[in-house]
Amino acid sequence: MSKVRTVLVTGGAGGIGRSIAEAFAAQGDRVVIADRDAAALARVAGELGVGAERIDITDAAEVAGAVERIVAQHGPIDVLVNNAGLLSLHGALMELPVADYESILRVNVLGTYAVTQAVARHMAETGNGGAVVNVSSIGARQPTPGMGGYESSKAAVDAMTRWAAVELAPHGIRVNAVSPGPVLTPMLAEGMPEGSEARAAWESRIPLGSLAATADVAAAVAFLASDGAGHITGTCLPVDGGQLLT
Ligand SMILES: NC(=O)c1ccc[n+]([C@@H]2O[C@H](COP(=O)([O-])OP(=O)(O)OC[C@H]3O[C@@H](n4cnc5c(N)ncnc54)[C@H](O)[C@@H]3O)[C@@H](O)[C@H]2O)c1
Repeated sequence: MSKVRTVLVTGGAGGIGRSIAEAFAAQGDRVVIADRDAAALARVAGELGVGAERIDITDAAEVAGAVERIVAQHGPIDVLVNNAGLLSLHGALMELPVADYESILRVNVLGTYAVTQAVARHMAETGNGGAVVNVSSIGARQPTPGMGGYESSKAAVDAMTRWAAVELAPHGIRVNAVSPGPVLTPMLAEGMPEGSEARAAWESRIPLGSLAATADVAAAVAFLASDGAGHITGTCLPVDGGQLLT
């Protein structure tokens, strides 16, 4: 029987985060979801029967307080999934306002950093090792016009994954990322209904022919956090139906 772990999933009230939380809970882990959307957080935590912490990941003091509360209530954190992100703000290079670009970087880069730093300090102090999985994007490696602000934030997440992996390895903490292509979250399904031109345009770029399900991403996250991935650190694993091959 494997050990019950305490797992923190940021952005757990959203489409992919909910699925990730569900996957860990199904394995018998103690899951805490954190999100800045209080109403969605309470709803999803209630539906899944998991713990909840309302935090804005860009507020380092809030993040540190939440980590302390989680440890007090649920025990040392074994797994961190940095999934919270801003993904709906886009614009062409000659048009995207600097302030919009700054807000993308604030959440996706600095927010991910704040949570990683707080949890890494806790894991190192506890001395039990641990696993961190970041939710990046294949956009970090393959450009789509109009999406460069978001994509460059995820390139920074990839670099942060490697940075954290080398520095945290001596503490027995593995750090990896999953890099999804477009994922069929409820939000995306609404904006790109089946049969729409937008859906067909994305599907035509994917060799396996369909967008990822949220469960496809969750399965990869669960694997990278598992003992089965015990010798894997610093990698960014595409979950993209082969899109990066095209
Ligand atoms: N949906 C896709 O096609 C896709 C593809 C590749 C990567 N991703 C990545 O997957 C992750 C989850 O995306 P999703 O599609 O589920 O989006 P989503 O908007 O449904 O979920 C994101 C969640 O993060 C939370 N959040 C945002 N900013 C926050 C902050 N400052 N503090 C705390 N919580 C915050 C939101 O409230 C939301 O619940 C993101 O990092 C995104 O970049 C998504």
